[in-house]
Amino acid sequence: LMRLGITAAARRGDTQARLFLDPAIREDPYPFYHQVRRTGALVRGHLMWSATRHDVVTEVLRGDAFSVHPGTLPVPRPIALLRRLSRRGKPIGPIDPPSMLVTDPPEHTRYRRLVVKVFTTRAIEGLRPQVERHCDVLLDELGRDAARRGPVDLVAHYASLLPVTVIAEILGVPPQSRQRFLDWGSAISPALDLGLSLGQYHRVETAIQQLNVWLRGHFARLRADPGDDLLSQLVHQDSNGERLTEDELVALAGLLMAAGFETTVNLLGTGTALLLAHPEQLALLRAEPRRWPNAVEEILRYDAPVQTTARYCRSDTEVAGVRLRQGEIVVPMLGGANRDPAVFADPDRFDVTRGNARDHLAFSSGAHYCLGASLARLEGEIGLRSLFERYPDLALDGAPRRRSTRVLRGYDHLPVRLRP
Ligand code: HEM
Repeated sequence: LMRLGITAAARRGDTQARLFLDPAIREDPYPFYHQVRRTGALVRGHLMWSATRHDVVTEVLRGDAFSVHPGTLPVPRPIALLRRLSRRGKPIGPIDPPSMLVTDPPEHTRYRRLVVKVFTTRAIEGLRPQVERHCDVLLDELGRDAARRGPVDLVAHYASLLPVTVIAEILGVPPQSRQRFLDWGSAISPALDLGLSLGQYHRVETAIQQLNVWLRGHFARLRADPGDDLLSQLVHQDSNGERLTEDELVALAGLLMAAGFETTVNLLGTGTALLLAHPEQLALLRAEPRRWPNAVEEILRYDAPVQTTARYCRSDTEVAGVRLRQGEIVVPMLGGANRDPAVFADPDRFDVTRGNARDHLAFSSGAHYCLGASLARLEGEIGLRSLFERYPDLALDGAPRRRSTRVLRGYDHLPVRLRP
């Protein structure tokens, strides 16, 4: 249904629909974003408005006039219909209430407060030795795979494995359940995307159902016998009598998995491909490894793993001189804002020494700013740096293949050889 709707909208010249359907735009959306930005601060499509200016995207993401879910707002009819059809009998998923991603203040403030207590930058920085150890083990295995079969797919054999291993650790998943966890993670991530086929949709729902059953048993185990993982703390946290309900914990754990998996896989895959395509930038990092954190920011800016999000007008409002009506939908194009020449000089140039790379909006802005940003940065830095240090002769061995996802951007196949 979603696909039919998008096709019909594209025929009417709808901006977002073109983004989703046109294979050339999907391969390289940046000329398209520039065109939208030149057209206006907010560009009206058949169903939604698009924004690619950095200041406008920031204003929408931070504005009180916008909601992260349509709720009972008078959204365009096709969207309302799709929502009704897709909600029937659904299990609690990472992008359904009570997931914080689709919850507004004041409930959202309460979730964030409870979760941020555990997800502090310090706690994440404390994971550094574990992340380094995981990378070492995964890179050993990558070397063994390459010795056996020659060229290897870096996505399947490295980029996909690190994020899920780290989330499993945060959620206290015992080693014997990790493979199942990896399978669920890959199956659930597409939930963040749009225009899923019926088969994909079915796989997502089945995986969510199975994961939820497993999680409820897992919470019971952690209550009886807490570990030193972050989830154990969340299960037990009840300072001021506050704690997350069982359904809220299910939604949160599912969200951590969906939001923290494929996004980070894409950061690692895109980062590897970009550095291989820009050997002079890689040479700068080899000469001065302290530049790695900034290189990660530039990768996030240059080719954001999450390209777009959505906001719903809570009430009539005005942004950049454009009047918006209650229920209208705005699509802040994060990938477009990150190439705004008003903020980033020569924005289509990949430059790991860029001074303001960190001003990108790849992690969004405002109340829903990515909860896992420190973790993603840590995994990006250690994951990429360890890879290039361990295999200095790493090279492409065939053409990388882009994922078919629209909101999420990255590669699903990156053939490499580790040695000349
Ligand atoms: C939210 C991007 C990694 C957990 C978000 C949002 C973006 C984003 C754009 C906000 C969406 C919106 O405003 O509508 C990314 C990128 C990542 C990444 C690009 C990797 C490079 C992670 C990781 C985790 C995580 C590793 C945790 C394990 C979350 C959560 C939210 C979120 C829980 C919801 C926050 C809220 O609604 O308050 N992420 N993310 N993300 N992310 Fe990430």
